[in-house]
Amino acid sequence: MEVVIVPDARTGGELIADAIAALLRRKPDALLGVATGSTPLPVYQALAAKVADGAVDASRARICQLDEYVGLPPGHPESYRSVVLREVVEPLGLPASSFMGPDGSAEDVQAACEAYDAALGVAGGVDLQLLGIGTDGHIGFNEPCSSLASRTRIKTLTEQTRRDNARFFDSLDEVPHHVITQGIGTILDARHLVLLATGEGKAQAVADTVEGPVASVVPASALQLHPHATVVVDEAAASKL
Ligand code: GLP
Repeated sequence: MEVVIVPDARTGGELIADAIAALLRRKPDALLGVATGSTPLPVYQALAAKVADGAVDASRARICQLDEYVGLPPGHPESYRSVVLREVVEPLGLPASSFMGPDGSAEDVQAACEAYDAALGVAGGVDLQLLGIGTDGHIGFNEPCSSLASRTRIKTLTEQTRRDNARFFDSLDEVPHHVITQGIGTILDARHLVLLATGEGKAQAVADTVEGPVASVVPASALQLHPHATVVVDEAAASKL
């Protein structure tokens, strides 16, 4: 695992956008796994700026989702489908057809999970998976004590994660209790994992991820098992290393 400490979130975003741009130059139709939340926004902004000024051609890039709420209609502004379309797909000028994600409104959620896991394989696997981290060390929506070998499946959110994500909704009551998430095993299938963490609130989770034992109570610690994992942290998030 490579750990890169940067002065601030903007620099981290630039660094990761550079890595994505280099990947797209090598492999124009790369499958990019994207994460939601506030942390990756500087990456998407920096990448969109590179596309706008012609530094990289992303027109053949493919985008895939990490996780999704269960029960929100796909058009809900806070469904992760809507968020990824708004924050990644549209700013990069990509068509909606370049994008794939699990169907959180499916009647048979289990079948939707299995279908998405299989679809990632059919698409050739994820080339670069961008990850954030929850304050409890979760990646995607793999909450503490998720199996490190897990595949895409339905999970119940902890109250801490629901509270953390309530800022995107009008009230805590509106935050769904259930989600679909790529499993930790699914995430580990990606060729390159890049985790970005910024701010002091993530410092303990980062320390546990990087310096703690590999343990399901800290799902992100599974990155230690991956042959090509990069953890980019600003100084605040690195403060407990
Ligand atoms: C959600 C997402 C994660 C994300 C996390 C942290 O739980 N499912 O993928 O990493 O939020 O979000 P933020 O970056 O806003 O702290």
